[in-house]
Amino acid sequence: MKRVHNFSAGPAALPTEVLEIVKDELLDYQKTGTSIMEKSHRGKEYSEVDAQAKERLTRILGLKDDFHIMFLQGGASAQFMQVPMNFLGEGETADYINTGVWSKKAIKEAKLFGNVHVPFSDESEQFSHIPDDSELQLSENPRYVHFTSNNTIYGTQFQAEPKSNGAPLVCDASSDFLSREIDIDRYGVIYAGAQKNLGPSGVTVVIVRKDLLNTADKTGIPTILDYHTHAERIFNTPPTFAVYMVNLVLQWFEEKGGISYFKKLNDQKTELLYGSIDSDDFYRGTARSDSRSKMNVTFRLPSEELESRFLKEAGENGMVALKGHRSVGGIRASIYNACPLGSVKALTDFMKHFRDKNG
Ligand SMILES: Cc1ncc(COP(=O)(O)O)c(C=O)c1O
Repeated sequence: MKRVHNFSAGPAALPTEVLEIVKDELLDYQKTGTSIMEKSHRGKEYSEVDAQAKERLTRILGLKDDFHIMFLQGGASAQFMQVPMNFLGEGETADYINTGVWSKKAIKEAKLFGNVHVPFSDESEQFSHIPDDSELQLSENPRYVHFTSNNTIYGTQFQAEPKSNGAPLVCDASSDFLSREIDIDRYGVIYAGAQKNLGPSGVTVVIVRKDLLNTADKTGIPTILDYHTHAERIFNTPPTFAVYMVNLVLQWFEEKGGISYFKKLNDQKTELLYGSIDSDDFYRGTARSDSRSKMNVTFRLPSEELESRFLKEAGENGMVALKGHRSVGGIRASIYNACPLGSVKALTDFMKHFRDKNG
């Protein structure tokens, strides 16, 4: 068996240790004679998986009893619609900070339900930077302030939560969930598709503050899309296998040392990689340096021809999925929690070699 260095932006690399457990348990889950996939979502085993995953998230994020944790379907894209459907009433305004394609998609959906105010957009600068608080022109009294904490396509990331003038933050954390500490008290909703930092695709973690949900009293919301439906119980059949894997990833995450461990590891990985990019002008980082992401590192080479060759030779050397998003081109190395330091070392060694040969 040969595993490569996988820099996929998502679905992304999973911890090998977790995949080994999944392999071992696939046919016979904990001596029950069936896989976890073949069990009722109301049965003892799956109920334990669901409860464990929620307990782990509660511990990791330092939640008290003040948040509901839900495992939903439809990806982060469904949350673009579900958040305003639940929280934004006619005549109300929500603020949406526009830092890229995913923010824009969220804005488009929110406009179906209420007023949207955009306190900042750097679209004219190709989404290369994250605003500091002085650049945010918030509305008078927003229902919530929505932001995309990490912009997977452009390699930019909020270095801290944006100001919100007391309004709850709603965060699309799909591509940096559990990669660093957050100021949980400021959040009303956090949502994240699992397929980057948390597990396989198919499940979206949605964390909603209870007191905020108590203020969501809109009528006419279809049952399945109403957060109240999922807040206290498993309503319908969840993606059981995906949640099972999320639970294993969370177990691995805690055993490794939790957020402080991964924060440090992510710092080490990005120091190496950005250090390599910045060491001369052969490689050029595309995000402004004060906005650089610790999850998706985006850069260009002197020509598209060299970029094609870089990708080809990286592949021949066991490094895959380094092609930048189709809308921006160039190179993107996605180095989520499960990407080991060794993979980043292999990449920076290759980058040096490639520059020496072609620079
Ligand atoms: C930041 C961010 N938000 C939303 C999405 C869309 O997620 P999904 O495909 O789970 O709907 C992505 C996908 O890459 C993303 O990176």
